[in-house]
Amino acid sequence: MTLRHFLRDDDLSPAEQAEVLDRALALKAAPFSDRCLEGPRTVSILFDKPTLRTQVSFVGAVAGLGGFPMVVDGRLAGVGVRESVADVARIIGPQSAAVVWRTFAQSALEEMAEFAGVPVVNALTDDFHPCQVLADLLTLRELLGDLAGRTLAYVGDGANNMAHSYLLGCATAGMHVRIGTPTSHPPKDEYVARAHELAATAGGSVLVTDDPLGAVHGADVVVTDTWVSMGQEAELAERKGEGSPFTKYAVDEDLMAHAGPDALFLHCLPAYRGYEVSAEVIDGPRSHVWQEAENRMHAQKALLSWLVEQAEAGR
Ligand code: NVA
Repeated sequence: MTLRHFLRDDDLSPAEQAEVLDRALALKAAPFSDRCLEGPRTVSILFDKPTLRTQVSFVGAVAGLGGFPMVVDGRLAGVGVRESVADVARIIGPQSAAVVWRTFAQSALEEMAEFAGVPVVNALTDDFHPCQVLADLLTLRELLGDLAGRTLAYVGDGANNMAHSYLLGCATAGMHVRIGTPTSHPPKDEYVARAHELAATAGGSVLVTDDPLGAVHGADVVVTDTWVSMGQEAELAERKGEGSPFTKYAVDEDLMAHAGPDALFLHCLPAYRGYEVSAEVIDGPRSHVWQEAENRMHAQKALLSWLVEQAEAGR
């Protein structure tokens, strides 16, 4: 059996994604019922970019499963700089039950997975943030029940990791996923094509549009993300300043009025009030961002438990 990783959202089939979400719901109800990392076994967690939620939630997830979370500052270690990604993988893999990595290039993460010999988890790359979307889907399972047939509209920077992960993750869940983004910042063609393929089998649909109202029209869920992702700090002025292409994609009460009557709001955080979202929306009654943030831990716990179980079954 091949070793399973979670490098992008579609690394889980629709049935597997549902299984992981079911496991997350069960673990949230009984937090210490799964001790698969007892020993404790180490999970190596590397960060090449800033973190708050991801570090806290992965440390909590690993500890909750009885394991030892070894957090490594990737910049201090110089992953891919001081030594190659392949060499780092061959050092930390044999000492770990799993490797979790936040970095820049998706190809570097793929290289880690090729050489680690244990499951590798994407804790955010430039292209994807699949653990966040898993937590979002968990939150929506709690708030809405069945995901299939529900409509999620992402409005904002369509070229970033969250947009790509919503495309693949929501299409896997059989949802209708809409991306409202300026034509200057479209999602990558290959990921849009893949989302269409997934939607065709799972029963959902995909729409990419530059019309924010069309994107959110009647939606069950509206989501957004920062206009300046980590690593894009040099573009801050053009992305957030006067003439920003994103201005008309800000999520405020006016835009929310075009969504469904009971539409929910989610945001991966950190949020920049007055830019991609108004304070009224994110701090208002439709917003479930704190539940969403807590669910990172429950979703990742279920994911790690599932991946470690798969790896053991394959030995
Ligand atoms: N698109 C954002 C997500 C932060 C969780 C970034 O990459 O910085």
